[in-house]
Amino acid sequence: MADYIYTLETRLSPDQQKAVSLVVDAAKAAGMNVYLTGGAIRDIITGFPIRDLDFTVQGNALKLQKDLERAGAVVGNADSETRSLLLTLPGGVRAEIAMARSEHYDKPGKAPQMAPATIIEDLRRRDFTINAVALSLNEGSRGLLMDPFNGAADIEAKVIRILHNYAFLEEPSRLIRATRFSTRFHWPLEERTQARYDSAKENNYIEHIRSSAIGYEIEQLAYEDDALGVLKAYEKEGWLEVLNPHWSTAKVDTAGLSALVKTRQQMNELGYIPDVAPAVMHFLTERLGDKDISELRRAIPRKDMVEAWKDLDSNAHSLAKRLMGKEASTPSRTWQLLSSARPEMILFLAITARQQSVQQKIKNFFTKWRQVQQKVPLPEMTELHITPEMPAYPKIANDVFLLLLDGKLRSRTETLKYLKPIAPPPPPPPPPPPAKRGRGARAAVFAAAAASAAATPGPKGKGKGKSAPVPAIAAVAAPVAAPGRAVTKTAPAAKNVAPGKSAAVKPVEAAKKAEVPAKKVSKVVKTGKAAGKAKAKPQAKPKKKGK
Ligand code: CTP
Repeated sequence: MADYIYTLETRLSPDQQKAVSLVVDAAKAAGMNVYLTGGAIRDIITGFPIRDLDFTVQGNALKLQKDLERAGAVVGNADSETRSLLLTLPGGVRAEIAMARSEHYDKPGKAPQMAPATIIEDLRRRDFTINAVALSLNEGSRGLLMDPFNGAADIEAKVIRILHNYAFLEEPSRLIRATRFSTRFHWPLEERTQARYDSAKENNYIEHIRSSAIGYEIEQLAYEDDALGVLKAYEKEGWLEVLNPHWSTAKVDTAGLSALVKTRQQMNELGYIPDVAPAVMHFLTERLGDKDISELRRAIPRKDMVEAWKDLDSNAHSLAKRLMGKEASTPSRTWQLLSSARPEMILFLAITARQQSVQQKIKNFFTKWRQVQQKVPLPEMTELHITPEMPAYPKIANDVFLLLLDGKLRSRTETLKYLKPIAPPPPPPPPPPPAKRGRGARAAVFAAAAASAAATPGPKGKGKGKSAPVPAIAAVAAPVAAPGRAVTKTAPAAKNVAPGKSAAVKPVEAAKKAEVPAKKVSKVVKTGKAAGKAKAKPQAKPKKKGK
């Protein structure tokens, strides 16, 4: 049997894992059973990126709102009818928590009768077999997959299948969803599903779609990786005019959209994960009239996304203004300004900025200036005992980086000159060996000197002792980290120092550290050698007794 919990843990990002724990804890505190449902399970099995987390609880999900808000969740919508929450959890994790419910359709186009239900009944109300799966997150059954329609097999077979013959009639938005999933995954509709789909299209079932379902599908489009591809498929199938009668591919800023995809990719590679949905909506509707845009915004249930979309232009405008002002008069100031800006804003401005100076600054921020980070002399800093264990380390490393960025430190010598006065005093020497007399005392001094020599390497190629490895530098200067993300890099240090090698420390310094005068060290070492030689000499044969 597949170990879904293991797969879940390996496939979710750290933020998504934290989000799962948060929801599980909140549900447990409220005494509700909780399941991960739908798309996340499908994506875990297929290996597609897990875009959002859909939870189903047996109980009223709205009761979890306060607990989750206290833990940092932003509620995008709380639906009292379905008793579900649309959330953005810490780290930008998109999630939905819905009450397990049964749905009964009296008439096409009319909202179904809903009632609280078990998880299995809830799976029966869903759109396609590939989404009608749930994974238990509850103690006692954690990791149990509930799959009453054999969805896992359809996922393996890469096919989209409705749960029953009336699926499209009952809920016409499933027609749009079928097109969306089929375009995203490049999976076909199963034969009978295709036949039902064609007949639903012919009979114009779509005219019975509810406005809430339209809003939901507009929102989903914004989160598609290939939103333009899906939009084109909608246009071909006749669904785009359902979402908005004036919408077409001609209203899309395709150049803006492809620049968005490219810049997002670049940012992802640098460790930034901006939420691109508001910008996607901006470019998808660039040439649509204001009235239509307002209607689309009204229809979208996730209000925090709508606000972010509305604010894009003005936020980008004010960032551009700051980038042209005093606040960004030097590279270091610009770096600090952009480091504290929201990645979404930088992304949007990178694509839409008209001023060349703004474009150039963002370009430098993503490329040239990052290379300056390699110049922060981490091995030398380690040698000066400026290491990540020091509370002031991030600030020192950042200051050096900013000075390098502005050309105020131009060489290694200048950098070291700057660093030396702020280096902490060397660590205290080890306690001297206990005073002994005679041969015991000599042996103790020898042992201390040998230990000191082993710990402090001589100049490369000349040293007699083995080089002690440079301690691994776990965290680099703060500027490397993308906002809100802990980026751990060791590369800059590793580049300058081969593993296991250290910069030279002269023997006299080594001796000083061990608090043994240099002369004495060599004498002692000599004595040691001599002692070794003496040992190697064949000993006089003992006289045989009794002969
Ligand atoms: N769902 C449904 N019918 C709808 C909308 C949603 O059955 N009209 C169910 C599906 O089980 C779906 C889940 O609710 O898996 C969550 O919906 P949504 O987030 O839209 O779909 P996902 O499957 O999560 O797909 P995506 O990867 O696009 O988020």
